[in-house]
Amino acid sequence: MTAVEQQPNVPVSADNLAERLLGAALGAADILSIYLGDRLGWYRSLLTDGPATCGELAERTGTHPRYAREWLEQQAVTGLLTVDSDAPDDPVASGGYPAASRRFSLPTATAEVLTDEHSLAFLAPLPRMFAAAAGQLPALLEAYRNGGGVSWKQYGVDARESQADMNRPWYERVLPDALRGVTSVDQVLRRPHARIADIGCGAGWSSIALARAYPEASIDGFDIDAASIELARSNAWQSGMSDRIRFHAGDAVQMPESAYDAVFAFECVHDMPRPVEVLAAARRALVATGTVIVMDEAVAESFTAPGDEIERLMYGFSLLVCLPDGMAHQPSAATGTVMRLDRLRNYAHDAGFLDVDVLPIQDFGFWRFYQLSGQGGPDSPRPEVMCGAVAVEHAWEVVQTAKVIARWAWPRAISASAVGSRRLLSKLTHHSQKYGQIAPLLLL
Ligand SMILES: C[S@@+](CC[C@H](N)C(=O)[O-])C[C@H]1O[C@@H](n2cnc3c(N)ncnc32)[C@H](O)[C@@H]1O
Repeated sequence: MTAVEQQPNVPVSADNLAERLLGAALGAADILSIYLGDRLGWYRSLLTDGPATCGELAERTGTHPRYAREWLEQQAVTGLLTVDSDAPDDPVASGGYPAASRRFSLPTATAEVLTDEHSLAFLAPLPRMFAAAAGQLPALLEAYRNGGGVSWKQYGVDARESQADMNRPWYERVLPDALRGVTSVDQVLRRPHARIADIGCGAGWSSIALARAYPEASIDGFDIDAASIELARSNAWQSGMSDRIRFHAGDAVQMPESAYDAVFAFECVHDMPRPVEVLAAARRALVATGTVIVMDEAVAESFTAPGDEIERLMYGFSLLVCLPDGMAHQPSAATGTVMRLDRLRNYAHDAGFLDVDVLPIQDFGFWRFYQLSGQGGPDSPRPEVMCGAVAVEHAWEVVQTAKVIARWAWPRAISASAVGSRRLLSKLTHHSQKYGQIAPLLLL
């Protein structure tokens, strides 16, 4: 392999791999020390009350000065904090100015990344997810052996708050413009008194952002995790949005039928043990002209090794959190974090949707937006039946466009296998919308 072809994450020698693992160990030390500083309120204290010695920091935060000193020194050594007064360790040599007198400050960049929950660069919550996973390693080993799982509830408060706080700034700052940029979606959300469902809403930041962006809309958030719903209610109340958002603790399959103009599923379909049932419920929950939008990880369309950083990160989350979470409730589709387009398309087809389109929303963190197309409502027939009926209404168009469709559709229809025929039918059905809704008739 030439130097040009070499992948950055593929070690070319033992030394190279050893170096990479050493770097990873330093990264792990950073991640876990950031977890400590975040959870003990040390970064926040340095931000709000200013530079501190270890004694001052310990006093302000109700922590132990010896641990505070070790952490402050480690943070300065690793480059996250700065030292204002560089006192030598030896009190005699330092003229009575011991290490305990060193004063540490929070640089601006560290402050933004580790304390500003509205910044897109906010990453303090990330270590919480790794801490949650680390706390479950014995349970993970057991699950890996016996095929069980570790539930979202079991990962606990660290996972829940990590998830919520990592995504929050994206919903607050980027989602409104992203949705406004897709006219067909924006128009649905702008309908007078639009009703929106946010399934797997977690701590509710997406629901709050939707309520802010669309002042006429009312939002129903659903989450199966009761603790998330409590957090969501509190977040909505504190954001002043609780009058237009209602949060419901329970499985999204219990959504009311024919109730919503739009159903959103933000970064949750891949976690669901039974995604097809939930998507089918989302379809039934729509009014006839409603739409379903899924936001999930922007992974590649197919498996490729070695993969890029997104793939590496998503497989990491999958191993440690999402796959075990999905497997915690059986029977399970066992999707994992790496849900590729084909997989989602299969789920959507099985749930009765006609197709899945990738929405033109770029640069939205690690995520991609999909729109699931097809008629909603509880009585909406399966796509095959639906399109046959629509085709009757458009008999004249049948005559006009049959030749066009037949030229490409007929040979494919004939060669479709029993297994593949349903997907082909859905594709034809999708195209039929463009060509006068007659394609399925050709198959009847
Ligand atoms: C990774 S979190 C995403 C939370 C939130 N949407 C966000 O973007 O931060 C996945 C959420 O889906 C919820 N969930 C999983 N299966 C569900 C189901 N069948 N019905 C409702 N919520 C579900 C979990 O409880 C969890 O809160």
